[in-house]
Amino acid sequence: MIAVSTVRIIDYDCDYDNHNEGIPVSELSRQSTSVTISGSRLSAAAPMPAATAARRRFPAGPPPLSLYIHMPWCLRKCPYCDFNSHQVVGPLPEQDYVDALLADLDAQLGQATGRGHPGRRPLRSVFIGGGTPSLFSGAAVARLLDGVLARCELSTDAEITLEANPGRVDALHLAGYRRAGVNRLSIGVQSLSAPHLKALGRVHSPAQAREAVAKARAAGFDNINLDLMFGLPGQGPAAAAADLDALITLAPEHISYYELTLEPDTALARAAPDRPAPDTVDAMQEQGIARLASAGYARYEVSAFARDGRHCRHNLNYWRFGDYIGIGAGAQGKLTDVVTGQVERRTCKGSPGAYLASADRQSERVRLDDADLVLEFALNALRLTAGVAVPSFTARTGLPAARLEPARSRMVAAGLLAPDPARLAATPLGLRFLNDLVAGFFET
Ligand SMILES: C[S@@+](CC[C@H](N)C(=O)[O-])C[C@H]1O[C@@H](n2cnc3c(N)ncnc32)[C@H](O)[C@@H]1O
Ligand code: SF4
Repeated sequence: MIAVSTVRIIDYDCDYDNHNEGIPVSELSRQSTSVTISGSRLSAAAPMPAATAARRRFPAGPPPLSLYIHMPWCLRKCPYCDFNSHQVVGPLPEQDYVDALLADLDAQLGQATGRGHPGRRPLRSVFIGGGTPSLFSGAAVARLLDGVLARCELSTDAEITLEANPGRVDALHLAGYRRAGVNRLSIGVQSLSAPHLKALGRVHSPAQAREAVAKARAAGFDNINLDLMFGLPGQGPAAAAADLDALITLAPEHISYYELTLEPDTALARAAPDRPAPDTVDAMQEQGIARLASAGYARYEVSAFARDGRHCRHNLNYWRFGDYIGIGAGAQGKLTDVVTGQVERRTCKGSPGAYLASADRQSERVRLDDADLVLEFALNALRLTAGVAVPSFTARTGLPAARLEPARSRMVAAGLLAPDPARLAATPLGLRFLNDLVAGFFET
């Protein structure tokens, strides 16, 4: 199989099939989920030739739009985590940070014009991620969401998610979030075993994780995601199965089941822990998928499982290559201007101090060229177990479907892509070797 650089998922969602109805089926995010390929062309600024722009057409209009809001503080930095998160020192600058977020939103809305103007498109979802957004009070989240509503139209059925750490789930905060309009809670459980939580440097116990779910239900949340990790140091298949079974008894609507990744330059990677062998980790994932299926959780993305159709709409928009505005320290956005045919990635300053202090909060704006669009579309869409309808490629990138053909035929021949000419979907083998499949769409 082809060697490919690391695929790192941050957090996202969207599908042509349901675009008009605004009901996503199939996101991404892990929180997060923008997607980058380390060391690839995606990190380089790519000026787009005028001729390229002229060829892009968006017959279905601009892609669906969502909003990602990043809260960069945590009680303590977990040793495995390489998200833009910082241990909070002193009082949380709630007031100033909410002001900065709304000023950032104003600035980003002001930068766009024309038919694809994000201010003229309803937000299908809002995701308040981190870091640990549950450090913020209900009043701060209410002021934030009121500010968003004053600036943007929100779909009537918009999904509004907030991420919470069980070490900081306060019943008053939860009731405030619910009143503020948050209708989905994503709780970072990670494990329900005390020794594993300790090894992961988590600030909470298994009992606190269970209490967090009970408090969320009591506050009226009927759409809850729980994050669980497997492949933990010293964990065997039986322990991983027991952990997952314990999580399932909490009956969340959605489960994100992530393999622990040793991210470079994290304390855990430096400690070189004794992790299960790759074959054992694969076996844990396979047994996990089967256990989740028998408990009614259908896998719809590599790490995402939903029961009763409660998919994460926000992440679906990332995976279906929708548009999103990103505000907050280190947040990323992707926006399409259907008039000029340009697709742009924007990144905000990562340091919370710099983000708070400066008037210009963006650090980078990069225009994606055709090859970037092909690769990024594949990187997202192929994570979905059902893939996407082929016409969604044109709807989301403005490029003709023929552009996919050489890579598509090669990957079908390699057995990594399903032969169905109407859909772009990984085979079971392709999902297993996703990096190799995505690498097939890398154009030099
Ligand atoms: C922003 S965190 C969730 C909310 C909160 N910060 C917390 O940790 O409880 C998003 C999720 O990403 C996952 N994650 C973070 N680092 C990871 C890693 N190195 N490998 C696998 N999953 C990871 C965890 O499951 C975590 O809950
Ligand atoms: S609480 Fe979440 S975001 Fe914060 S350091 Fe831990 S995993 Fe990262």
